[in-house]
Amino acid sequence: MIGVLVSGEGSNLQALLDAGLPVAAVASNRPGVRALDRAEAAGVPAAAFELDGFVDRGQRDATMANWLQEHGVRLVVCAGYMQLLTPGFLDRFPERIVNVHPSLLPEFPGARAIDDAVAAGAETTGVTVHLVDGGLDTGPVIRQEAVPVQPRETLTARIHAVEHRLLPEVVRELCVR
Ligand code: GRF
Repeated sequence: MIGVLVSGEGSNLQALLDAGLPVAAVASNRPGVRALDRAEAAGVPAAAFELDGFVDRGQRDATMANWLQEHGVRLVVCAGYMQLLTPGFLDRFPERIVNVHPSLLPEFPGARAIDDAVAAGAETTGVTVHLVDGGLDTGPVIRQEAVPVQPRETLTARIHAVEHRLLPEVVRELCVR
């Protein structure tokens, strides 16, 4: 069973749902985001764990991990989840947390990866699916696919299209392990 962590639009969550993968629970760090609506529309339990409601990130992540495990989650997918996970959370799902990122890591980590690749004058960027560790977009790479930067106008859409194909593929493979 898969738990998906989200913060916003949720198009990668939608790709996982559309692929028929066993998404058991969706958790967000922000209430009211489109990703939570997508989960509810698919009949998947969804909840927001806002930092404001907790003493610190460690307590928030412990509560979120409990909730995911209560829903049978054994594989966690960060799909546009814009917060770092605390060591306590990582320990609850060892080697079983993946992230999708819109660059060829280790190039262009962080929240503005697409713009950063353009600003750097890169000819090629891409998509990475990797295991999550304690760093910002670090952790062992599972799969990467290159995407040409030009034409710039369509770059974001082309990157998202690759994400929506690659992430479900990798998650499906991890599910059978
Ligand atoms: C994706 O580009 C993902 O790689 C990045 O944030 C974006 C999230 O999009 N980490 P969505 O919420 O899945 O639509």
